[in-house]
Amino acid sequence: MRTQMERSKRFDLLAKRDINKETYVEPWPEAGLIVADSPYDPQPSLTIEDGCIIEMDGVAHRDFDALDIFIASRALDLDIAEEAMALPSKEYARMLADINVPRSEVARLISGCTPAKLTEIIRHLNVLEMMMGLAKMRVRRTPANQAHVTNWREHPALLAADAAEAALRGFAEVETTVRVARFAPFNALAILVGTQTGRGGVLTQCSVEEALGLRLAMKGLTSYAETLSVYGTEKTFVDGDDTPWSKAFLASAYASRGVKIRFTSGTGSEALMGRAEKKSMLYLEARCLLVVKGAGSQGVQNGSISCIALPEALPGGVRAVLAENLLASMLGLEVAAGNDALASHSSIRKTAKLMLQFIPGADFIFSGYSAIPKRDNLFGGGNFDAEDFDDYNVLQRDMQIDGGLRPITEAEALSIRRKGARAIQAVYRELGLPAISDEEIDAATVAHGSDDMPAREIVPDLEAADAFMAGDDDFIAVIRALQNSGFADVADNILEMGRQRIAADYLQPSAIFDADFKVQSAINDGNDYLGPGSGYRPEGQRWTEMQAIPQAKSPEGFVDPHVGEPLSRLVEIGPADRGTGREVVLALGPAFGSALATTIGGLEHEDVLEAILGGVAAEGMIARIVRVYHSSDCAAIGYVGARLSGSGIGIGLQSRGTTVIHQKNLAPLNNLELFPQSPSLTLQTYQAIGRNAARYAMGIPTVPVAVEIDNGARLRLIVKTALLHRRETDEVCPERPPQELRFDWEPDL
Ligand code: 5AD
Ligand code: CA
Repeated sequence: MRTQMERSKRFDLLAKRDINKETYVEPWPEAGLIVADSPYDPQPSLTIEDGCIIEMDGVAHRDFDALDIFIASRALDLDIAEEAMALPSKEYARMLADINVPRSEVARLISGCTPAKLTEIIRHLNVLEMMMGLAKMRVRRTPANQAHVTNWREHPALLAADAAEAALRGFAEVETTVRVARFAPFNALAILVGTQTGRGGVLTQCSVEEALGLRLAMKGLTSYAETLSVYGTEKTFVDGDDTPWSKAFLASAYASRGVKIRFTSGTGSEALMGRAEKKSMLYLEARCLLVVKGAGSQGVQNGSISCIALPEALPGGVRAVLAENLLASMLGLEVAAGNDALASHSSIRKTAKLMLQFIPGADFIFSGYSAIPKRDNLFGGGNFDAEDFDDYNVLQRDMQIDGGLRPITEAEALSIRRKGARAIQAVYRELGLPAISDEEIDAATVAHGSDDMPAREIVPDLEAADAFMAGDDDFIAVIRALQNSGFADVADNILEMGRQRIAADYLQPSAIFDADFKVQSAINDGNDYLGPGSGYRPEGQRWTEMQAIPQAKSPEGFVDPHVGEPLSRLVEIGPADRGTGREVVLALGPAFGSALATTIGGLEHEDVLEAILGGVAAEGMIARIVRVYHSSDCAAIGYVGARLSGSGIGIGLQSRGTTVIHQKNLAPLNNLELFPQSPSLTLQTYQAIGRNAARYAMGIPTVPVAVEIDNGARLRLIVKTALLHRRETDEVCPERPPQELRFDWEPDL
């Protein structure tokens, strides 16, 4: 009897894969562990009497909780509501996916829909249809991206350098947060100075407790506030000491000081706080979004945000996260679409998840791309981080999709990082803050993260931060400091940020600044997507910039320069005849040893010839060499060799190194042995090929030459393969018959 189950080696390996580091759980509606369609979710309904809502989604007015009251009184357009609620949900779903229905028509009707109605619309949509919906419904025409810039050392020079690089890489918003709350003013200051060094007009925030956040904004150190959290049940709100009204009041406080605001919500928060009231995550999110709209926010950061692992543990979780992004855009809210916390250990899964926002585009595809390594991220990771920058730029280039970033060179990065770090050093010096040394500047310039930085004395920094908050100095002092120390351009950008707060055009829906400090918003850059040929597409200058990854080489760089002189040891002596004796014919490609001199694997053609001839000789056989002119195809070259050979055995050898052993009675595309993976062929292999050809010619039973299988070779070398083949094909003379060659060589026997 067997006591232990056998172990499958495959399952054993699968168990160790990254995807199996995650947690998966079956739905449990009673605990709110269900992303959509809880059996306890209400059916959509709305009863209006004398212009007042007396019943909504099955709840009578007298039983309304605070969210119902807020939504009923502030978030629904009662002029539209009856028409909107009467239209079947499936019709809405079809309108969302239909490129012929303009976004304005969908938006008009959606303004009369209750939370249950919004949830029911989603029920009819698969992810592809939702992506079509998001492409159409997102507010701004041009997609953008937001970055996290933090580090566990809270080092000001590193923050400024990373913010400068993030701005140069194209992020439209950059946010920081704190490990120690008292660092808030200095972290805000560092990313302000850093971003405005990299590019004027990047909006910044420091995510901290709201009263402190407001004071930072009033000092002009930040220009947007995003973490005004809302929740889908009354009890979760109360746990956070808040109500929809207090959040609306806070939003007004920010906006009245010229600070752009965006609320935060997202699936999973209510279940995480144990107060989901048996409702599905998506239904609760629909309530949140109506609260956000009712509070007058221009936008929302949603897509589960810090809770992402919870919907991802459940079936349909990734779909639901796209659904909440779509719901927000249907309500006309600017969407910072999540992807701001690590969504998976598996790079396949984290990328697949990203595609749902990346392909349709969002106002902000990430509401926090970690522009620093994950280890330095004080927000919870970022689904992509600084180590994924090249991957991300390649994804943009592959799909011709604008993900809001651009490739930069190492030299550009080093230069802007040094400048950002030196700018914050100057500000610290001028304002009498604890000095930032030149060694710290050098370290921040080349650093990847905190581990590359020298430690700073934390206590004096914290004391200075307290004094700065207590004092009257604000961004004007920062501008003066920069102006006095050779950073007039950075000073100008920060001054302009201040001027823009008074103009306040960037409080318009979905506003960012373009490269020239011009506001780009729903007003002047509204999304006009209506199917093929419409809407935003990266083209012209922007597409050129996206293509220009520093890794891309000029095609000429793949082929060694023309050797010009043919190999002097390889001499053409006249048309090749058909042989009669015991021999192997080695047939070469038209460029071998003439227009080209080495194989794709870097072997000299001379050495390859010696190896093959040596192999043939070692078996006591003679080889004759011919050059084929009418074709560059390996099979055709080998076939000619076999037909010319007295023994009927020929070897075909292309200039890039691809080799075949042919026999004249076989069909042209059949063969004895083929060596297509030329990059892995060594001189020993070529010698073995020569030996085997000789043995076939003598009729001796022969074991095929073993070669290494390297499936990556084609992936790495396909461009070079194509260009080498093109070079060989250039040498083809269709009418010229094969020529006999003499190779000046003595076998060392
Ligand atoms: N719902 C509401 N607020 C959230 N936040 C993160 N995830 C959610 C969510 N799902 C807020 C947190 C924090 C900030 C980063 O965003 O409260 O302040
Ligand atoms: Ca964010």
